[in-house]
Amino acid sequence: MAPRKLAAGNWKMNGTLASLAEIDQLLADHPRPGCDVLICPPATLVHALAGRVEGKIAVGGQDCHAKTSGAHTGDIAAAQLRDAGASHVILGHSERRTDHGETDADVAAKSVAAYEAGLVAVICVGETEAQRDAGETLDVISTQLAGSIPEGATAANTVIAYEPVWAIGTGRTPTSEQIAEVHALIRDRLAARFADGADFALLYGGSVKPGNAAEIFAIPHVNGALVGGASLRAADFGPIISAL
Ligand code: G3H
Repeated sequence: MAPRKLAAGNWKMNGTLASLAEIDQLLADHPRPGCDVLICPPATLVHALAGRVEGKIAVGGQDCHAKTSGAHTGDIAAAQLRDAGASHVILGHSERRTDHGETDADVAAKSVAAYEAGLVAVICVGETEAQRDAGETLDVISTQLAGSIPEGATAANTVIAYEPVWAIGTGRTPTSEQIAEVHALIRDRLAARFADGADFALLYGGSVKPGNAAEIFAIPHVNGALVGGASLRAADFGPIISAL
């Protein structure tokens, strides 16, 4: 089974109910059988978006708690996301790792919670600019993969997103060779650890735009993208989906 192609949009802390009109436009302009499309809006919009798209595109959360319920003010359980209509959840995004101190072990625990709730975990890894400059990129990615992906991962319940921290929201992207090197490493690590490691979808994320999407999607082991800013408007995200 070849990895499925996936164009995923991470709206981060952007958007209100009025923003869902962009998804209406996206559906009108860019029907793409054979390519999965996922939108991860703020939690406040998950239920409304899921009802609006009626299964034509997938809906995801941007984080979940590792526990199923309890006294965790402000947090959301994986089953609550599922109940609201989500099928996916982004975990271990660098903004969560930086802003909330999430560790690889936290990400692994949250991934297990996602699996138990029936969600696909989109597990993010990526090096900082200082780590790349120090020549540590492959070691950093290897460590994050080993610690963040739990034993229960399969190609059906897990997607891996490589997002260099220095490329997120900066307009800077790695060279094709740099992306290829990391994606090959991720594929090798998954194949060494999981029977279906060749089938996990691998996404690249970090300043993906309509103008660079086709070049990025041509890189070996890039099966799609995790898109931030350019996923907010149908006029930008549509052409990225079309390039996949
Ligand atoms: O989750 C998405 C990434 O952080 C990429 O964000 O496309 O705005 O650079 P960006």
